[in-house]
Amino acid sequence: MKLSIINGPNLNLLGIREPSIYGNQSFEKFLTELIKIEPTFEFIYNQSNIEGVIIDLLQKYNNDINIKGIILNAGAYSHTSIAIADSLKSISKPVVLVHISNVYQREIERKTDLLSANAAGIITGFGLSSYLLAVEWFKIQTKSFYSL
Ligand code: DQA
Repeated sequence: MKLSIINGPNLNLLGIREPSIYGNQSFEKFLTELIKIEPTFEFIYNQSNIEGVIIDLLQKYNNDINIKGIILNAGAYSHTSIAIADSLKSISKPVVLVHISNVYQREIERKTDLLSANAAGIITGFGLSSYLLAVEWFKIQTKSFYSL
């Protein structure tokens, strides 16, 4: 199964950026491990600091018949972007939103969530394992007795 993973602004700095919140591991290193743990999946990974590029990626993978779903960490745009929220409304594939940190334990502005109303669901606060849990949800979807 092919999944798109899209990371938003500043997530290219994982491992360097605020390690007490986001940990010491780069996303590229984590992805190498994820590929080993989940050999039945193929991950198409993109990161951008630019809102419009994230929207282009969402539209591109929504139109790609080989992609089953999208895992999106929109970073700070999760709290601010009406444009990405609008884009999610036109996406027919399941989008699972993830956050590395528990945004509900943090500053008040991070409790504003403009995106999750138009996503399949949201996983927040499990470190990089949030991505793994999102993959597990896609795996569960292949078993009809658990499907939504
Ligand atoms: C984040 C949480 C956001 O509030 C923050 O702006 C990020 C990362 C997370 O993964 O915990 O950039 O999305």
